[in-house]
Amino acid sequence: MTNAPIDATTTAAWTELEALKGGFTPDLRGWFAADPGRVDRLTLDVADLHVDLSKNLVTDEIVAALVRLAEQTGVAERYAAMLAGEHINTTEDRAVLHTALRRPKGALPSLTVDGQDIDTDVHEVLDALAEFGGRVRSGEWTGITGKRVKTVVNIGIGGSDLGPVMISAALEPYADAGISARFVSNIDPFDIASKTKDLDPETTLFIVASKTFTTLETLTNARLARDWLWEGLAASGAIDGSDEQKKDAVAHHFVAVSTALDKVADFGIDPTNAFGFWDWVGGRYSVDSAIGLSLVIEFGADTFRELLSGFHAVDEHVRTTPLAQNVPVLMGLLNVWYTNFLGAQSHAVLPYAQQLSRFAAYLQQLTMESNGKSVRWDGTPVTSDTGEVFWGEPGTNGQHAFYQLIHQGTRLIPADFIAFANPAYPLADGGRDVHGLFLANFLAQTKALAFGKTAEEVEAEGTTGALVAARTFAGNKPTTSIFAPSLTPSVLGQLVALYEHITFTQGVIWGINSFDQWGVELGKQLALQIAPAIEGDSAALEAQDASTKALLEYYRDHRA
Ligand code: F6P
Repeated sequence: MTNAPIDATTTAAWTELEALKGGFTPDLRGWFAADPGRVDRLTLDVADLHVDLSKNLVTDEIVAALVRLAEQTGVAERYAAMLAGEHINTTEDRAVLHTALRRPKGALPSLTVDGQDIDTDVHEVLDALAEFGGRVRSGEWTGITGKRVKTVVNIGIGGSDLGPVMISAALEPYADAGISARFVSNIDPFDIASKTKDLDPETTLFIVASKTFTTLETLTNARLARDWLWEGLAASGAIDGSDEQKKDAVAHHFVAVSTALDKVADFGIDPTNAFGFWDWVGGRYSVDSAIGLSLVIEFGADTFRELLSGFHAVDEHVRTTPLAQNVPVLMGLLNVWYTNFLGAQSHAVLPYAQQLSRFAAYLQQLTMESNGKSVRWDGTPVTSDTGEVFWGEPGTNGQHAFYQLIHQGTRLIPADFIAFANPAYPLADGGRDVHGLFLANFLAQTKALAFGKTAEEVEAEGTTGALVAARTFAGNKPTTSIFAPSLTPSVLGQLVALYEHITFTQGVIWGINSFDQWGVELGKQLALQIAPAIEGDSAALEAQDASTKALLEYYRDHRA
């Protein structure tokens, strides 16, 4: 679909929303008091996710106008175009088909795009992952000395790292093969050094995960890992250091995941130990492709398939549900309301689950690499603000750190609270269910943010003078509560897909291509130009701007 985007700001719905914003005074206390049906009307289920939107700063009129905005900007049509494999990633001339990665075997009608039988290819790779993962988990696959794998180290960055990292932590209770996973991403040598220093090369399997297999960080770390392996195996006498044995060591201890299998072979990894995916899977949308190999090894193929089924359940919801009941679409629209009409610049994601400690980091790439754009998909400038800053930490840690600003600061920060009725580990403190206490905090925070505390209420507690203002909470701080029975693999897949589709909705309304990331290129190019200056090349030093040159000189003066 290469046609020009519809400029949201020229639609009738946008004009309506401008008018609604004009006379808008949020009043969650008043709205709740006057309207006993508000919670029911604004609570929707998607698969296992129970989503309460009622504490958002919207009236029915605003929600209806937002839905019209989605209609008038063609959200449903663009979603259909994406699912049909149209090249909606215009700047790279690619289809966008991460949703195909989680279609069940035999889904009808089958999907053929650009002459490729997508379903067959996806399931071939999934089966290969399951087969390989099974061999590692059972101990059939061994290192060069015949020892079974105890640790799998995923080397990748961005989309080739953040998904597996986040999910590995989230599903920790499901790890059942005695194999732990580590993740090396940063080119800071500390990362690989600290993550390998206590490992035994004989029981370590590296996965080099890179869509392009050109990423500087990943290839550098892969070479460092290979040196570490060779040195370790030679030191213990496992190999004699001959080229033949080194090659054999790589064959036993390195596998790869990439769309560029030729480059995998150039690196020295046997292509039979490589798992492919396709250019229609964006890096930040790739955790459900072969990029999830470390997860298949850590948790098993069944758990991985359950994760995929969760993604698919939300895809189906988006595909089949009218916009007005479509949860990710509504959540995307709320974000547009806050960003474009109420001036919000950031969005907090606050999981009440320690297992989701990396969820906000994962969402940062998903949302900000997708929607941090200033031009639209036809190359024209955007006509409104785009992507918000996503951030967050698990509750209750955040409560004791930054919630102060959300409660009483001057900025509007919409927040998503995510919680689970059942804990991974039910523990009691003196007979008291600790998870229940944890959930009481989730409920207390969303309540305090919505309804605040008036000066009269503060005074009624005996507070007087200047302290009254300090202890008053304005309320009307918007939150969405996402509740689910438990953090299962399927529920986790549902959560990720939910945010993928929220991101998509916002991208369509802003007219941007959420699937490219040209903004990361300049820094990569400049790093390659600056590297010689770091290494002492005077001409490269002289070519820098004054500030960069001065910093390079500082480096030269202080390098031990
Ligand atoms: O930072 C840009 C980026 O291209 C991301 O979009 C991507 O996830 C990451 O680099 C890693 O890329 P690759 O998987 O090709 O190594």
